[in-house]
Amino acid sequence: MTQEIYLTGITTTGTPHIGNYVGAIRPGIEASKDKTKKNYYFLADYHALAKNEDPDKISRSTLEIAASWFALGMDEDNAVFYRQSDVPEITELTWILTSMTAKGLMNRAHSYKAAVQANVESGNKDPDTGITMALYSYPILMAADILMFKATKVPVGRDQKQHVEMARDVAQRFNHHYGEVFVLPEPVIDDDTAVLAGLDGRKMSKSYNNTIPLFADEKRLRKLIMKIKTNSLEPGEPKDTAGSTLFDIYKAFATPGETAEVARLYADGIAWGQMKQKLFEYINDHIKPAREEYERLISDPAIIEAELRKGAEHARKTAVPYLAQIRDAIGIRKLG
Ligand code: TRP
Repeated sequence: MTQEIYLTGITTTGTPHIGNYVGAIRPGIEASKDKTKKNYYFLADYHALAKNEDPDKISRSTLEIAASWFALGMDEDNAVFYRQSDVPEITELTWILTSMTAKGLMNRAHSYKAAVQANVESGNKDPDTGITMALYSYPILMAADILMFKATKVPVGRDQKQHVEMARDVAQRFNHHYGEVFVLPEPVIDDDTAVLAGLDGRKMSKSYNNTIPLFADEKRLRKLIMKIKTNSLEPGEPKDTAGSTLFDIYKAFATPGETAEVARLYADGIAWGQMKQKLFEYINDHIKPAREEYERLISDPAIIEAELRKGAEHARKTAVPYLAQIRDAIGIRKLG
């Protein structure tokens, strides 16, 4: 049995929030410690460009995301953690793959179709208004990320599944044309990881502006938790755990025993204010040690920069010789 290679990317837009933590960071860090698998994690900063972020925001987000993963104990001896833009072979491979990608395939990408749909709905004459080639070709860059490291398994959210399938299609077409060069990847969707609701009860997401930043300081964390939407049931009235954002967040952090205990408190009619205080204390205790480390790292970005450089060096040990082989396969060769 060959070793599975896991790879996943994190787009550098925004500040990590507790939804990211529960859905991606925590499982990613757990996996980084597994010595039976090879793991690649990277900061997709070129992908962030497709979202039209401003330069300072991309740079700040890169620092915050990297500091979060390191503070939470990413095992860098066992896993490779790098910044996409530090591995130029990825962008070079993107162009090579672009020449093997059917335009029709890209036309079918959900993310592109959604952008076109939004234009049509808002009555725009040109359905491509505001759509850059980066947004359109986004799946090709993502295919290069994946194929560059011969990833066999790609853990992603449901919204990214199609992109991984497209990477597979592109790899297949390439192999058909040039011989067996690429390994075909498969998406891995974990339906068990919790998707947290945000302050207003909708999915916690930067685009809804309803997030709780993972490393918000104590005061801010408390304030945000106090803002979480509840219903109007009075203290003493039994409360339903189903559909309660407070309960779901608590559950995502606590042990099953502690969660069962809180379910009993709901049945007994715990006051919302009390439950909020309880949730705040729980998360705060859980996060505190990592938050101190995070603050240390954020205040000294040179440490992060050095770690990322090390990660890129490691990644390029694979990427450089492999890209040479790929170039040879397509006829970009030394002449003598
Ligand atoms: N597009 C992914 C997202 O928005 C991030 C990403 C970029 C990625 N390249 C990747 C994920 C390669 C998995 C593999 O979530």
